[in-house]
Amino acid sequence: MSFKRFRRTRLNNVLRDLVRETSLSTNDFIYPLFIKEGEGIKAEVSSMPGVFQMSIDVAVKECEELKKLGLKSIILFGIPETKDSIGSDSLCDHGIIARAIRAIKEAHSDMFVVSDLCFCEYTDHGHCGIIDHKTNSINNDATLEISVQQALVHAKAGVDMIAPSGMMDGIIEALRDGLDSNGFENLPIMAYSTKFSSGYYGPFRDVAESAPSFGDRSTYQMDGANLREAISESIEDEAQGADILMVKPVLAYLDVVAKIKETTSLPMAVYNVSGEYAMLKNAGAAGLIDYDRVLMETMISFKRAGADIIISYHAKEVAALLK
Ligand code: PBG
Ligand code: ZN
Repeated sequence: MSFKRFRRTRLNNVLRDLVRETSLSTNDFIYPLFIKEGEGIKAEVSSMPGVFQMSIDVAVKECEELKKLGLKSIILFGIPETKDSIGSDSLCDHGIIARAIRAIKEAHSDMFVVSDLCFCEYTDHGHCGIIDHKTNSINNDATLEISVQQALVHAKAGVDMIAPSGMMDGIIEALRDGLDSNGFENLPIMAYSTKFSSGYYGPFRDVAESAPSFGDRSTYQMDGANLREAISESIEDEAQGADILMVKPVLAYLDVVAKIKETTSLPMAVYNVSGEYAMLKNAGAAGLIDYDRVLMETMISFKRAGADIIISYHAKEVAALLK
């Protein structure tokens, strides 16, 4: 019995490695960190086992561990002590995120620090911008204005890249203009260009304490049924000056990743979100799957679909498995 064709190149490990089309590296990952006020705080949140809210000092130490694993990039989310209608904590140089960026860059100049730029963690209503009380929805242009303010706070604190996640129209152009006219021409923007209104964000909202107090985010986040609109959003963000595009969530949207990859030549990130993490974690903990194997299979699917960058709560586990 001779093989007809495909099995010849599956004969042994070395040959399988030689013909493998896609690979994973610690270079691909961005690891999310949730920063809380206080000192010595490392609090696990039950909906995301293995993910912690950390005070700034603990986050600085965490970066040491990340570097040992070969991880070089983090994305920061701030959880302020006090929230108000416009998210003031995110708009001043002594807010939680500004101090976190400064402390981390001071201790680890070699850590690439990305900041999530949004308002839902900082507002008392939990929405991603300023509420227009007449229509009870988010005022786009007013939110653009304070988004530029927030971007300048991050930039002055020394952030390496900003990632606006609020899904306001025109945000990339507004941020690019604001950064350029204030001397930050070289600061890249990773656009949450295709961010769907999704049930998969549930656990994140527990960790980031950012659930909306009324309504949902469907007047600004995208409808998961729309592929053409996702492509338009990506083309639009590229035209406005985005440096990197993103699809989020990823698992239920791998077709969207692949299609956008065909449409634009910008680098593509995917956000492997909290609900995706929680599902895998719980299936593993229940002994229903071979966790490590399913984890790596899932990560490689993102790369195969076209992702260059993977933002994932699994990054440390993946790095340990790649060692
Ligand atoms: C804030 C933001 C969210 C996530 C990243 N940035 C939540 C949301 O839009 O409600 C989700 C991340 C995750 O679920 O892991 N705009
Ligand atoms: Zn938000």
